[in-house]
Amino acid sequence: MAAPLLSIQDLSISFITEERVNKALQHISFDVKQGEIVALVGESGSGKSVTSLSILRLLPSPPAVVNSGQILFSEDGRHQSDLLHLNSNELRRIRGNKISMIFQEPMTSLNPVFTCGRQVAEALLNHKNTTPQKARQEAIEWFEKVKLPDPESIYKRYPHQLSGGKSSG
Ligand SMILES: Nc1ncnc2c1ncn2[C@@H]1O[C@H](COP(=O)(O)OP(=O)(O)OP(=O)(O)O)[C@@H](O)[C@H]1O
Ligand SMILES: [Mg+2]
Repeated sequence: MAAPLLSIQDLSISFITEERVNKALQHISFDVKQGEIVALVGESGSGKSVTSLSILRLLPSPPAVVNSGQILFSEDGRHQSDLLHLNSNELRRIRGNKISMIFQEPMTSLNPVFTCGRQVAEALLNHKNTTPQKARQEAIEWFEKVKLPDPESIYKRYPHQLSGGKSSG
């Protein structure tokens, strides 16, 4: 049987500070199969973001500590690698390429000093054998595909110049 695309097994994560130990995740296990869409649902503070951030190793450590578990990723359904044990080069190959994250807060997760277009083009440049010019073109095409109005102009705008989806934007 093919290995799942992603298999989280017995994952436990705590946040350890001088004041207290917050056991944010306790023995979490679930699989995501190829082609499957999985939603994590739960009340605020139940650990959805911590689970997602742990997959790409984006939790600040300290204070985050992995107490148990594995995060097995399989690109081909046969070999599995534990994302918790990849070195920084191997992680960089996967981040933004095989596994990506759309953050909850665009105003804090995009870099304010670079244009929106450049930040999308950068992901393409880092992972594809392409030129800056082609990456720029492809970023604009992606803006078109997701139906952003006036993609060329959005490419040149900084994050604070875009609407965050709220009426004030
Ligand atoms: N950087 C951090 N340092 C300390 N504790 C943290 C940190 N990030 C998350 N936590 C704690 O981990 C627990 C799980 O938080 P998490 O952000 O994953 O919840 P969530 O399910 O995503 O909530 P929401 O629906 O509000 O987004 C909470 O108790 C939270 O306080
Ligand atoms: Mg969250």
